[in-house]
Formats: sequence, C-alpha cells, structure tokens
Amino acid sequence: MTTTIELKPSAHPLPDAEREAILANPGFGRHFTDHMVSVRWTEGRGWHDAELVPYAPLSVDPANMTLHYAQTIFEGLKAYRRPDGTVATFRPEANAARFQTSARRLAMPELPAELFIAACDELVKQDKAWVPAHGEQSLYLRPFMFAAEVGLGVRPANEYLFLVIASPAGAYFKGGVKPVSVWLSEDYVRAVKGGTGAAKTGGNYAASLVAQKEAADKGCDQVVWLDAVEHRWVEEMGGMNLYFVYGDRIVTPELSGSLLPGITRDSLLTLARDLGCTAEEGRISTEDWKRDTENGTLTEVFACGTAAVITPVGTVKSRQGEWTQGGGEPGEVTMRLRKALLDLQSGAAEDTHGWMHQL
Ligand code: PLP
Ligand code: COI
Repeated sequence: MTTTIELKPSAHPLPDAEREAILANPGFGRHFTDHMVSVRWTEGRGWHDAELVPYAPLSVDPANMTLHYAQTIFEGLKAYRRPDGTVATFRPEANAARFQTSARRLAMPELPAELFIAACDELVKQDKAWVPAHGEQSLYLRPFMFAAEVGLGVRPANEYLFLVIASPAGAYFKGGVKPVSVWLSEDYVRAVKGGTGAAKTGGNYAASLVAQKEAADKGCDQVVWLDAVEHRWVEEMGGMNLYFVYGDRIVTPELSGSLLPGITRDSLLTLARDLGCTAEEGRISTEDWKRDTENGTLTEVFACGTAAVITPVGTVKSRQGEWTQGGGEPGEVTMRLRKALLDLQSGAAEDTHGWMHQL
C-alpha cells in the first residue's frame, strides 16, 4: 500500500474572477473545486491508483452495485483559512477512524488513516485558492467510498472507489445563527440498535427524507429522531447531534449504537469543560425536554455538526404540543461554545488540544 498520490492537475482551472464570485456567496454544497482525489480498491490487489485529477463526472454502469444495494459511506470535515494565510483541517484523524468504522459496518475495505488524511491534504493543497478567507466560511471536504463492481448479486463488492471532493461552504442554514425549529418524529425512526445508525452511510439519509418532509409540512426546519423502541429518548437531528443546556451543565444523548458519534459532539464535551461547564452524556426523554423547559431548568438546546457548526434550537413541535427554548433567541452558553469552537478552528484561539492539522 502506498500513500503517494500521483498529481494530474487540471490544465483549465476555473478563472480567478469566477472562483471569487462563487466564494462571495458559496451557500452549502452547490459548487465544487477544480480537483478531486480518487483511489481504487480491488480484491486481491488492495488500494491502488491513488491520483489527484480534474473534478469530472464519473461514468456509471446501470448495474453498478451501489445503485441497487447502497454499499456506500461518506465523511464530512472542513479546511479553515488561518490569520497567517495558511490552511488547517479539524481532527481529520477522527474522520479517518469513523470512516473505517463505517466501512466495517457496510462490509467494505478499510482505508488506511494515512491515505485518508493524505488524500484530503493533497486536495486542499491543490485547491487552496478555494478556501474562503472570510468570516465563518470554510472549505467542506467530502470523502466517500462506494461499490464499483457491476452485477446484481447481493454480496460485498470486489471493487470500490474512494473519492474526495471539496466545496466552499458558507452557513448551512440560510438564517445564520437564527434558532431552528424542530419536529419530534414519533412515526418514523432513523435507526435501531444493531442497524446502521452509527455508520455514516447514504441509506440513513435516504430513510430520513420522508420524516424531514413531514417536519417541513409541520412548518419546522429539522426533524429530531427518537429511539426506535420507546419513541421517547432523544437521539439526534437530521445531520447534527444535540446538546441540552441546564445552566452550566450540558448534556448530550449518550451513544446508543443507533446515533452518529459526531466529532463536533465529542469536541464540545472537552471544550465545554475548558469553559468551566460540566459536560455529560446521558438520556433525555421528550417528557424531560418539555417539562424542564417549562420549569425553567433546561435553559438552552443546540444542535452541532461539521456542516451546521453550532445552531440553536428555538421552537419544538410534537404531538404533545409546542414549546420554545429561551424565548426563541440564541442562548448565552450556546453562543459562548460556538465562539470557542470557531475561534479554535479559524486560528483566533490557541489549539490547546492539538486538534488542528496544519497543511
Ligand atoms: N449526526 C448525523 C446524522 C450527521 O450526519 C452528522 C454530520 O456529520 C452529525 C451527527 C455530526 O457529526 P460531525 O460533528 O462529525 O460532523
Ligand atoms: C456534515 O456535517 O458533515 C454532514 O454530513 C451533515 C449533512 C450535510 C449530511
């Protein structure tokens, strides 16, 4: 196995003026940089043909196994521009490790962590001009892997393609740090213990869309998933984990086996302690959520994830009724943690935990 990535850069990158126009208002996941990294795995040969090539469409056989049986996994991490003009990514080794866990669950080959990190590094170095230089913007990296074998037999494929693409990212939610409204999904479930909920696999997101649509029909921005057995223990949101703020004690749902172990969630357990809060993993039911909001002990709720950073939760709607956190305004602890995380990532604060991977 080699971590050497052959560089075959584009002869026609996007002109500077067009790239700058995109960076002025990137949105989320709408524009892609000039290059991508590609590595192939073949049974008996392992990982080979690692290369950085111009971003381009792939040609797909109609009988490609992924199209039929969804053997596919992905990751999400960001590269940030630092005050001195250099670029760094946030905890890429944690994404590499989660990618291996997802691969095991989907019966796919594990990509060595060094190759995962080298692929992200080469792409960011090549497309450095695409890393936004202002405010809270960043370059979102999307490593992913899928079955590349052609055939209709239901079994692990004998060939896979690992790719990394990159997309400049502004705010995930259009309203910026405006609190989002959430719908507690009681009819649909995202995942069960023993299922694929802890893996970052496309099928989890496909299965979530009908509930996300139900949330939108109820006038909400996002769906909140509950446990699949009792339908009362809060798990996570569409693409984010959740935190409950009880004064200076913050609590996030424990890793039940059916929710995604978010890297932002994990980082905040440490960052909150740095800020003098108590940070815990625990169980929160929908009844706790409503009651503790109404009796004033649950002061704030927020969602966290790579794409969404930290986003306050405002209105909560469920079959039991509707309530609002903190008068619908972003809470003080939420905003303090958000600033601490963004300062660390952008280089405005010291990286005391060694989380930034400087390129
Ligand atoms: N939960 C789900 C379902 C997600 O898709 C994500 C996003 O990656 C998260 C939680 C947050 O994870 P992370 O903080 O690693 O981005
Ligand atoms: C991320 O935050 O990286 C996610 O994967 C969330 C969503 C875009 C799927």
